[in-house]
Amino acid sequence: MAWHRVAAEADLVENMPLAVRIGDTPVAVVRLADGIFAVNDVCTHEYALLTDGYCEDGKLECPLHQACFDIRTGAALNEPAEVPVATYPVKIEAGGVFIEL
Ligand code: FES
Repeated sequence: MAWHRVAAEADLVENMPLAVRIGDTPVAVVRLADGIFAVNDVCTHEYALLTDGYCEDGKLECPLHQACFDIRTGAALNEPAEVPVATYPVKIEAGGVFIEL
C-alpha cells in the first residue's frame, strides 16, 4: 500500500467525478460537500466505468444498467448490482489529492 498523488485539490469540482488510474486500477475520485472520496471505477455488475455515469446525492449511477453506488461507503444501493465497489482512503496534502492503494 502506498499513497499516490492523483490530482490537485483545486481541480476537483463537486459532483464531477474524475477518472484516474493507479497502476492497473481505475479509480473514481469525487468531491462531495463533506469531503473527497475514492471508489473503484468499475461497476460490479458488468463492465462499465462509473465515471461515465451520473453523480447525484452522494451516489454514482452506472451508465449501463443504472445500478447506484454510495460514494462514501461503496455500497451497491440497487439492482442489478449486488456487490459493493472498493473504497480507498483519501488525504489532502500540500494542495494535492492522494489515494492509498
Ligand atoms: S454494468 Fe453497471 S449496472 Fe450493469
